[in-house]
Amino acid sequence: MCGIVGYIGDGQAQQILTNGLKKLEYRGYDSAGIAVYNGEEVQVCKSKGRIAVLEERLEHTPMEGSVGIGHTRWATHGRPSDENSHPHTDESGKFSVVHNGIIENYQELKQDLLDKGVIFTSETDTEVIVHLLADLYDGDIISTVQTAVSKMRGAYSLGVITEYEPDKLIAVRFASPLVIGLGERENFIGSDISAVLEYTRDFYILEDGEMAVITRSNVSLMKMDTNQAVQRDILRVDWDMVQTEKDGFETFMLKEIYEQPNAFRKTILNRIDSAGKNIVFEGLNLSAELIQDLDKIYIIGCGTAFHAGLVGKYVIEELTRIPVEVDVASEFRYRRPIITKKTLVIVVSQSGETADTLAALRESQRLGAKVLAITNAPGSSIARDADDVIATIAGPEIAVASTKAYSSQLIVFYLLGLYLAQVKDTILGDERKLMIEALCKLPEQAEAVLQRANDIQLYAESIKDRKSLFFMGRGIDYAVALEGSLKLKEISYIHSEAYAAGELKHGTLALIEEGTPVIALVTQTELYEKMVSNIKEVKARGAHVLGVTLEENIELHRVVDDVCLIPHTLPLFTPILSVLPLQLIAYYASRSLGNDVDKPRNLAKSVTVE
Ligand code: F6R
Repeated sequence: MCGIVGYIGDGQAQQILTNGLKKLEYRGYDSAGIAVYNGEEVQVCKSKGRIAVLEERLEHTPMEGSVGIGHTRWATHGRPSDENSHPHTDESGKFSVVHNGIIENYQELKQDLLDKGVIFTSETDTEVIVHLLADLYDGDIISTVQTAVSKMRGAYSLGVITEYEPDKLIAVRFASPLVIGLGERENFIGSDISAVLEYTRDFYILEDGEMAVITRSNVSLMKMDTNQAVQRDILRVDWDMVQTEKDGFETFMLKEIYEQPNAFRKTILNRIDSAGKNIVFEGLNLSAELIQDLDKIYIIGCGTAFHAGLVGKYVIEELTRIPVEVDVASEFRYRRPIITKKTLVIVVSQSGETADTLAALRESQRLGAKVLAITNAPGSSIARDADDVIATIAGPEIAVASTKAYSSQLIVFYLLGLYLAQVKDTILGDERKLMIEALCKLPEQAEAVLQRANDIQLYAESIKDRKSLFFMGRGIDYAVALEGSLKLKEISYIHSEAYAAGELKHGTLALIEEGTPVIALVTQTELYEKMVSNIKEVKARGAHVLGVTLEENIELHRVVDDVCLIPHTLPLFTPILSVLPLQLIAYYASRSLGNDVDKPRNLAKSVTVE
């Protein structure tokens, strides 16, 4: 989604802003721009397309100056175009604004401004803000921004500069994330920490309804509505910058796929006692009484995080016998969920900023539920608002398609399932110890699967020109099939669908014809025979089948055309290993089609609009 960056200091803003925008590229965008104050006026350069296009323009017309704002736009109001790109300026060119999010009442505000004779040059909601500032300006940019914001509804964040007061950079946050980077005689704003991590490790995280007035040497935080000053602790970030580089891999996605074994190790670390028998979650507030009393768990997320939740359902129900419902966040919040004091809501979000998941969290709390967040971003809005947090320790995920965050979420579900079972005493201590041993083997087993990437690459290249593909599985394999299908769609743009294998003959079988690729997940020994029957059904209609199965099921090769073997593990743990070949299939299919794997078209990393 849109990315904001801003700078005020002694350095040259152009370079700092474009560097920051490049760090935000992973969020997904379709145009980019910057505005820089050159000592006399604010100059703007913006363009549809990649940052490389913007840089080309800047080469011809470089911008001097040490105050500026920049933006990557992911179109919501109006198509991607030069005119719709940010920063937007008012008619006089004195005010410039970058904006992330949506102004819900922009039509109304626009009409008022049109009635006053203001001329609009874009189709965006953002342009309303800048004209509003120009219309309201009273000689003080702070009170002007406050008055303008009081007229706006929506979830958004803003960066504002004006020629009238060029010693100030103003930042505003209403539900769309914004951070302030603190330097020596320079300060920054960014939609996330990675935007300016190159320049500083010290940050203030702006909270909803807050505003920051930033000069070269000072940052003041205040509440938008009351003007009351806000004191905030500095967050010192220890992410190593190296972690956000590609480290010799051709893309971030491939790097992140190969980082999974270590992400599992880090996510497991310190969460198992020294005897290897019990799960320990330091700092978890969930009381034993609440766990004993739970009558229902909801797991909520979007996209891949929702798919992790589907695996979580199997795990928690199997280990604790507590009923679990899994919901897509955008549906959950509008369907009047039945929540009591005995309900636990688990929200799953890599970024911790997904608008629908955050809204579902707040709705659950409003209805009286305790909310536990599983997130990769400890300082995020979701982490801050939840009653409890269990972090995935996957490190920054830059590629839009989620891989290591998903599998680390599964690791957390395993730990959590075992922890709940421990408190509720639903599985024997010895059994738990065996499960913990199997869990600790997963990083090494994942490494073994990733070493066989060559065979998977060949298979991926063989399907790259197919129009459509099917994934199928039963039980927990079905949950993984859904994730494999999403991964393939989002980066290769090949249509695919995932089916519970027993459902195919209720309609979808009609789509199977000679050569249709089908990827069958066959990791559940109890369901093996049933899966073989389903595979025969599609084979009889001409499908070309790849079976993903455990090493001990090698004889599956008699039934399928290709087989991909994964090491033996417990039935609940197979998703961690079986998803790896599916991620690689999506990856190599996308590469061989020449797509931009890390930044698939139309998609954004952090979905901060509803
Ligand atoms: C797909 C993908 C998305 C995200 C979804 C939720 O690869 O990454 O489906 O999983 O947008 O994002 P988070 O986890 O940040 O809430």
